[in-house]
Amino acid sequence: MTIDIIILAAGKGTRMKSELPKVMHQIDGQSMLARVITTAKTLNPKKIISVIGYGADIIKKQFQNDQALLFALQEQQLGTGHAVQQALPFLSEEFTLILYGDVPLISKSLLEQLVKISSSGLGLITFEKENPTGYGRIVRHQGQIQKITEEKDCDNLEKQIKEINTGIMCIKTDLLINWLGKIDNKNAQQEYYLTDIIALAVSDKIKVGHVLAKQEHEIQGVNSVIELISLERIVLQDKAKQLIEAGVRIQDPNRIDIRGELVCEEGVSIDVGCIFEGQVFLKKNVSVGPYNIIKDTTINEASHLQAFNHIDSALIGKQCKIGPYTRIRPGSELNQDVHLGNFVETKNTKIDDHSKVNHLSYIGDSQIGKNVNVGAGTITCNYDGANKHLTTIEDDVFIGSDTQLIAPVTIKKGSTIGAGSTITKDTEANKLTISRAQQVTIESWDRPKKK
Ligand code: UD1
Ligand code: CA
Repeated sequence: MTIDIIILAAGKGTRMKSELPKVMHQIDGQSMLARVITTAKTLNPKKIISVIGYGADIIKKQFQNDQALLFALQEQQLGTGHAVQQALPFLSEEFTLILYGDVPLISKSLLEQLVKISSSGLGLITFEKENPTGYGRIVRHQGQIQKITEEKDCDNLEKQIKEINTGIMCIKTDLLINWLGKIDNKNAQQEYYLTDIIALAVSDKIKVGHVLAKQEHEIQGVNSVIELISLERIVLQDKAKQLIEAGVRIQDPNRIDIRGELVCEEGVSIDVGCIFEGQVFLKKNVSVGPYNIIKDTTINEASHLQAFNHIDSALIGKQCKIGPYTRIRPGSELNQDVHLGNFVETKNTKIDDHSKVNHLSYIGDSQIGKNVNVGAGTITCNYDGANKHLTTIEDDVFIGSDTQLIAPVTIKKGSTIGAGSTITKDTEANKLTISRAQQVTIESWDRPKKK
């Protein structure tokens, strides 16, 4: 059976307390409308028509590259029935499925069930809600759906009904067009209710099918930021749970944010408070301590991150030890068994096997060889105010604490640099280089006294 899909998205969403059209608010980095469109496409509809009104230009611009998406403008929001009417000129297929731009987690499988049971002419998704206040109620007679009554039009008996309308329906297109021609706005809200077509179907002896949704988040509409956040939490928890099921030891699925894609091999463990952005790849037996922020990075086998590191666009080798409090900036590549410690910042730097920068250093635009030890407080002075220059540190170098390396400069293989040096020229291999004033004692000096 062939379908068109209409997505209603014309409302402002006053309760979002934001200028941005409601459906453009994001869940896990993707707007609600984009999520619904993605799900809609999985059903292979002939057309997807989004009904827009408030913020129409912003929405159109956002989706301008999506050739498959059509827009119908609803200038005034006169109700869900009126909204669907705006899309009627686009419809060409036998059935029409109606979705909502603010019901972002609707699933493909639920929609497939709906489409299947709608073949008689009309089907809807309902839900049993403990507190149904605010929703349209499914009114049944001898088990058969008779009509939907909106909250504001309910009598006291109808208010007791816990089965609610999710709004999502699938309708035979010619019947939809016919019924929408018959609805009016004589109701408590003076709106054209889409839901009025249910009673029209019943009077036309069309059986109304339904699917009872089991998981509330799938049919949950978003009206406020709090509701947005709670759905986002479900999405993030879901990603964490999938990793846990695949064998990753995540300390607490409530305290991890996987904002992009996190791929983990076996034996990986992740402590609380970590944020993963972009594409992150953790190979076998990597352990990530608490409160790490990691973006677009690959970390190889058995490396260990202690707490509080910030890592962006880096490649970390096997058996490295990082942190706590290390900042690894774009273009950093560490080979095997590299140690970076507290308050160490690297940028555009390659560090070869078994080298260590353990404390309080800035290492930028650098090449560091094997078995190098960079002492505390070492700074590569890579920037002359106009250009960046390279620092090269060859294998087996030992750099004493509090050293400045004025780039461009090469510290030759096996060099030792005395602590407190400012190195401006290339060093000789296997020699000690020092550049500091001799220590002297001033005999005639008195400490100043207060007058
Ligand atoms: C609607 C249903 C109600 C259901 C509830 C589920 C109707 C009359 N009522 O009520 O039975 O329980 O959803 O959440 O359909 N919209 C437009 N143009 C309009 C009006 C609405 O695009 O003129 C869009 C809104 O942006 C929103 C959606 O349709 O995304 C639902 O509209 P809303 O006014 O929130 O309907 P409810 O009163 O919640
Ligand atoms: Ca609503």
